Amino acid sequence: MADQDAEKRVAAVVIMAAGAGTRMKSAIPKVLHRIAGRSMIGLAIDTADALSPERLVVVVGHQRELVAEHLADVAPHVTVAVQERQLGTGDAVRAGLAALPGIAGEIVVTSGDVPLLAPETLLDLVAAHREGANAVTILTAVVPDPTGYGRVIRDGEQVLRIVEQSDATDAELDLAEINAGIYVFDAGTLTEGLSALQAKNAQGELYLTDVIAHARDAGHRVGARVVADYLQTEGVNDRVQLAERAAELNRRILTRWMRDGVTVVDPATTWVHAGVDLAEDVTLLPGTSLEGATSVARGATIGPETTLIDVEVGENARVLRTHAELVVIGPGATIGPFSYLRPGTELAENVHIGAFVETKKAVIGEGAKVPHLTYCGDAVVGAGSNIGAGTIFANYDGIGKHTSTVGEHSFVGSDSVLVAPVHIADGAYVAAGSTITGNVGPGELAVARGQQRNIRGWVARKRPGTRSADAAAAALASTETTEQQTEEAGE
Ligand code: UD1
Ligand code: CA
Repeated sequence: MADQDAEKRVAAVVIMAAGAGTRMKSAIPKVLHRIAGRSMIGLAIDTADALSPERLVVVVGHQRELVAEHLADVAPHVTVAVQERQLGTGDAVRAGLAALPGIAGEIVVTSGDVPLLAPETLLDLVAAHREGANAVTILTAVVPDPTGYGRVIRDGEQVLRIVEQSDATDAELDLAEINAGIYVFDAGTLTEGLSALQAKNAQGELYLTDVIAHARDAGHRVGARVVADYLQTEGVNDRVQLAERAAELNRRILTRWMRDGVTVVDPATTWVHAGVDLAEDVTLLPGTSLEGATSVARGATIGPETTLIDVEVGENARVLRTHAELVVIGPGATIGPFSYLRPGTELAENVHIGAFVETKKAVIGEGAKVPHLTYCGDAVVGAGSNIGAGTIFANYDGIGKHTSTVGEHSFVGSDSVLVAPVHIADGAYVAAGSTITGNVGPGELAVARGQQRNIRGWVARKRPGTRSADAAAAALASTETTEQQTEEAGE
């Protein structure tokens, strides 16, 4: 095939997505259900985009407002066509063509509920269509269980017609080659075939597949391209299939990453969304879920039991039992176990965030540590600072949120409360247990707590006869003995 030909763009792709998807038993339209972090219609559009079609049309019908709203959001380049009533796949494509007046050339038709279809398969289908000089080329597969699909009736290389499950004879039902519901049509042949459709079949629908027999009768060539990897052609009709396709797509995504140098310790419990980017020598431990636009740089280890949503992880970082969303984790940072990083958290190189620490809109400088039991919200912490166990950045005054800042190489003692907005300067210390309501200057120690007072004999007077009183009496007696002995020794 000539290069020029390979680069030729198809005139249009029409994606059918108007069906009710009744078996999903869902308040949301079938094609909006998600797989690998994308809606099924979003995946179908990605695949169609690989053909760089001149026009991309999505046919919507059932709950069309919801689908159209989603399309405006994720794929503003598509044209939305409306099929008023779901009269069958032939009628769906008619509705699609109504948005493409005067169209000529190649029209690819696909479905919004075939999430595993790979771009290469669609490119191969178009190539086969051109090589065969066909008027119609259909994608087919030989499947272990063809029940429910249209069967391909052939005459050698050429396809004579497609017969639907409910219209087929017993002999036809034995055929294992199925119509995947994905086609390339010459626009003229398609338009003619659609105008001749009649709903004379068991389902009383206008079948797109009847265009094939019509094209044959008109003397056109109808070819087929068999896809060996038949799982690509499987659709989603209910939630069981949704889970099966999701698991299969996940397996495929993980396989690709493993071939690209990522270690996945347990593929069965590791989930990676389609939009995630991983570098070589990343290690994913069991129970890891990487979602949205998450990226992980070389040498980083994620998991076990970690969910990262739109997170950027730097080289050699270690993220252990953590939940994070919209966060930047710097190179060499060590996070977790049991850390909760919320949107707006930006951790520089070698930061350490430890157990039961929650951060939100927190910008933390190089090498700073927040090791234990801390809430760090609306905070800026300078490089090399240490935030002691149990520190709270009290950022909310009941009306608004305020930011507190800690300078570089500062030390905030355990169990401190920083009541925002306050500024702890570079090289300053805050004594443990302080409630800080005013700024602390460079190198100053802030102590903001009650003075310690020890009341002698309190336990003996107020808790007489308790184990505490006994223990105290024994300790006091032995201290006196030691003091006496020391005196006697003349030291
Ligand atoms: C169709 C094919 C069948 C093929 C199978 C592959 C026909 C008549 N049959 O059958 O040969 O094996 O796909 O999965 O085409 N849709 C609309 N409007 C409608 C009806 C359907 O937009 O009025 C959309 C659906 O949302 C779906 C696609 O078209 O995305 C296929 O419809 P579906 O009812 O699943 O087709 P099948 O009966 O499975
Ligand atoms: Ca149907």
